[in-house]
Amino acid sequence: MPIHRWIWRDRERRVQKLLRFSETETDGGRDLLRAAELTSDPLLRRLYLLHATDEQRHGILFRRRAAALLHAGGPLREPRSGGEWLPPAGHGLDDLDVGLESDETMLAFLHVAEKSAASRFTVYSEVLRSDPGTQHVFDDILHDEMFHMNYTLTQLARVSPERHGTRLWRARLTRLWKTYLRIASSIAGLIGGAILIIQYFVVLPPFAWLAKRAARREQPGWTAIAPERNDAMRQQY
Ligand SMILES: [Fe+2]
Ligand SMILES: [Fe+2]
Repeated sequence: MPIHRWIWRDRERRVQKLLRFSETETDGGRDLLRAAELTSDPLLRRLYLLHATDEQRHGILFRRRAAALLHAGGPLREPRSGGEWLPPAGHGLDDLDVGLESDETMLAFLHVAEKSAASRFTVYSEVLRSDPGTQHVFDDILHDEMFHMNYTLTQLARVSPERHGTRLWRARLTRLWKTYLRIASSIAGLIGGAILIIQYFVVLPPFAWLAKRAARREQPGWTAIAPERNDAMRQQY
């Protein structure tokens, strides 16, 4: 919770987060349209289309709110960093290759992603008490995410009455693994940066010193070479 408070306190970071959320929601909507095209289940197709419309609307709401914040406070000074390693908007639908999923795996993935989005948006709404406009956007969207979370579970139980528990666990583990990879790659980036800085200040100076010393010893101008090195026509030296 304190980290979320820190992330959302700053207006610039808030605008950037909202814009990123907007992209994730719109991408999610696109994935759901593709899922609606691919499924052979008529009820799922209707639900996916409804779901896609919701995600598209969420994208627009986030973008409008980011624009309103920008309008109210002037242009951004500089990009602020913070929380890039967190899952994108809780959905993480961008990790998904819709064409490879069956109805069961798709529903399990969606349920886990929507549940995570719902709990994340609840936290965001709580930490945004000082910004009622943005808080209202999260409350509005949260209502839809609860519906997405519930319908995906009901439909998963319908299409996979026996194995829906296993499907859910697998989806949770995959999500956990992707979160681990995201954090690990951020840490690897930090470590890589630190090693490069150490190399710059510890390994390079002796070479720079040697190069300078060699340059000092070099005689200026033309240097005559030995005559026996000067007459071989078959090689350069
Ligand atoms: Fe959404
Ligand atoms: Fe959703």
